[in-house]
Amino acid sequence: MSNIKNLLNKVKEKVSSSKSTQELDLVYSKFLGKNSYLNKLTKKIHLISIKNRSYVGKLINNIKRDITNIILTHRIHLEKEILDKSITNEKIDITLPGRTNKIGGLHPITSAIIDINYFFYKLNFINVSGLEIEDSYHNFDALNIPINHPSRNSQDTFWLDKKTLLRTQTSSIQIRHMKNNKPPIRIISFGKVYRKDYNITHTPMFHQMEGLVVDRNINLLHLKNIIYEFLNFFFNKRKTIRFRMSYFPFTEPSMEIDIMNNNNWLEVIGCGMVHPKILKNLNINTKIFSGFAFGLGIERLVMIRYNINDIRYFFKNNLRFLKQFK
Ligand code: DAH
Repeated sequence: MSNIKNLLNKVKEKVSSSKSTQELDLVYSKFLGKNSYLNKLTKKIHLISIKNRSYVGKLINNIKRDITNIILTHRIHLEKEILDKSITNEKIDITLPGRTNKIGGLHPITSAIIDINYFFYKLNFINVSGLEIEDSYHNFDALNIPINHPSRNSQDTFWLDKKTLLRTQTSSIQIRHMKNNKPPIRIISFGKVYRKDYNITHTPMFHQMEGLVVDRNINLLHLKNIIYEFLNFFFNKRKTIRFRMSYFPFTEPSMEIDIMNNNNWLEVIGCGMVHPKILKNLNINTKIFSGFAFGLGIERLVMIRYNINDIRYFFKNNLRFLKQFK
């Protein structure tokens, strides 16, 4: 009897110090399992006199029931504790901002190039590319730029050696294309050009776009029309523009096109009728063919498009700047 009472106390002690259901399982097998004291006692019950046997039997059954109850109660308590813990740990805060996929956007220069290309593609222009490392023949000589012209100066041009340079203008593409193709010619070209300049309106590298048309009976009106239509398309509204007489060695006559922007005239495009000397040098018959050409700085156009006041923003990789154009 006293053994059994002691047993109950031991069980209570072990159970209450159990921290997990696995520990409880061990307590269970220790006190009720095959090798437990109670099980052995049960097996020896036939040794007890018949008079006392049912009393002792009941006693053993009762204590077994009590032990089972104690363990079970604690088990329920433990399971609830585990559940509560995991609920608080795994709580989802629905007020937190969601995780979204970050999708990049196009650089404003890239999307301008795509837009410009689309406009000229619809007019049957083909897009050709040239070389960023050019020779002085294609960049200067063949464009009728005199040998002592200041733009050839090493203060303006990145020379790689005496004859090789980083192209200063995409106009060199005109020469390369006319050398290998006969009129009718209708091309545009986009590319990086390099000049030794750095301030709020100039960077040592910027993007130019070049256009060239050579065909029968091409005249200044064709040029003016295409420029008008192009600028209306690009800015999506009618801008005030003016054609101003100018000079380029490779066109005659030459003009610059200015756009009215915030009450200032901004020069955006150089253009003109291709100089006959250039056509002749490339074996194009000037009695039959004439042409016009134009060149523009893409950064300059995009600055007007979005009211950007410093060209250097384009190349700083500042996300706060870039994200505005998504
Ligand atoms: N290449 C000139 C520049 O970089 C721009 C230009 C002017 C291009 C007149 C042309 C043109 O094709 O006809 O300033």
